[in-house]
Amino acid sequence: MIDAWWILAAIVLGIPLLVVLLHTAIRIVRKFHKFPIPQFLADLIDNPLRRRIQPPDETAVRHGLEPGMTVLEVGPGNGTYTLAAARRAAGQAPGVVGDGGQVVTIDIEPRMIERVERRIQAEGITNVEARVADVYDLPFDDGTFDLVYMIAVIGEIPEPERAMHEFYRVLSPSGTLVFSEVLLDPDYPLVQTVSRWAASAGFRLRKRLGNYFYYTLIWEKDR
Ligand SMILES: C[S@@+](CC[C@H](N)C(=O)[O-])C[C@H]1O[C@@H](n2cnc3c(N)ncnc32)[C@H](O)[C@@H]1O
Repeated sequence: MIDAWWILAAIVLGIPLLVVLLHTAIRIVRKFHKFPIPQFLADLIDNPLRRRIQPPDETAVRHGLEPGMTVLEVGPGNGTYTLAAARRAAGQAPGVVGDGGQVVTIDIEPRMIERVERRIQAEGITNVEARVADVYDLPFDDGTFDLVYMIAVIGEIPEPERAMHEFYRVLSPSGTLVFSEVLLDPDYPLVQTVSRWAASAGFRLRKRLGNYFYYTLIWEKDR
């Protein structure tokens, strides 16, 4: 009987400990060696726990995305949040009226973009443009977007401050820049870290939602 208790205790304590150790090890490696995640991981992170913490439709609302907006998403992964953003921008989300919004999504990985394109075609969504592009050199005119957002991306970018200047450039004067992060992501950056990067490019914090485990930061131009 005692043995059974020891085994149960080892399982109950051991599995969370193993997960924390693995997460910490990946975090340390990623701190020194940053690269875009492989495509299969983009599917793995789109799981029920993640969708509970960051529900796709609700995340578009948290981001302040309104019907009719012109939106840039950076790093769509498998495109789940792109589809929700597109529905809201077009005024098709539950309880929303309006139309005409457009979502442009860019990713450095061509396979991610191909995946997103397949999904938007399968769902008959017409207000999304998916393009291969790098955050350091966005192929858009100054002031193009009302909203630039990214979810679990900025911690994966080797030179985030350089990227912030590009976000600033493509945003309209009244545009907003939004980051959503979740602690489950090994690249999760602290709020203070993102704040330092954003402030260095001339952004001022407009709104903060969430808590230590997951958060959304909404920034506006300060100058
Ligand atoms: C962790 S995934 C997040 C995917 C999705 N936003 C989500 O939350 O499920 C990060 C995404 O950022 C993309 N990415 C990484 N570096 C990039 C860069 N320099 N320019 C554009 N996209 C990049 C990756 O290819 C990947 O699709």
